[in-house]
Amino acid sequence: MTLVNPKDFGENLFKMFDDSWCLIASYDEKHEGLPYNAMTASWGGMGVLWNKNVFFCFVRPQRYTKEFIDKSEYISLSFFDEDKKKALTYCGRNSGRDGDKLSEAGLNVTVSDKGIVEFEDAKVTVIGRKLFAADMKEADFIDKSVLEKNYPNKDYHTVYVCEIEELKVSE
Ligand SMILES: Cc1cc2nc3c(=O)[nH]c(=O)nc-3n(C[C@H](O)[C@H](O)[C@H](O)COP(=O)(O)O)c2cc1C
Repeated sequence: MTLVNPKDFGENLFKMFDDSWCLIASYDEKHEGLPYNAMTASWGGMGVLWNKNVFFCFVRPQRYTKEFIDKSEYISLSFFDEDKKKALTYCGRNSGRDGDKLSEAGLNVTVSDKGIVEFEDAKVTVIGRKLFAADMKEADFIDKSVLEKNYPNKDYHTVYVCEIEELKVSE
């Protein structure tokens, strides 16, 4: 993979999130069972905040992946080519609580010494160090139709903002 300066990254982020989706992954060495997990996500983005290059993602409280994210210093976002869409669909419909869904989906995981989870077949990998996390609150929604449409079970997302430490593109 080649390191790319975020300012030179020319991909369409709207298509990357909304059409291609990604895997959000974290590692927790003390976790019972497999020490990492990942889930499919299509909501998120990248930009600039606090004079840093950041990405942000949104995770509902019931996701198993959240247990890992909350224990880890790092979150990775992995984007794949279209041929992995089935695998991402699988990881977005099944929970790591019920088994090794990443292997079942045919994905090969690596974990670095720093505890960063990456996928061998990823086209783009973005490694972020957590800067900020906050739980969305009902009272903070200005347009209440967003609430009604997206949160019938009141399972409001936690928003994570991470400083992008590495953005890598496969050769
Ligand atoms: C296309 C797609 C996009 C998704 N986007 C999100 C998201 O942005 N945030 C979220 O919390 N869940 C999202 N999900 C749901 C999780 O991926 C799903 O609940 C997953 O099974 C959670 O796995 P886990 O329990 O192993 O963490 C999405 C699912 C799909 C199929």
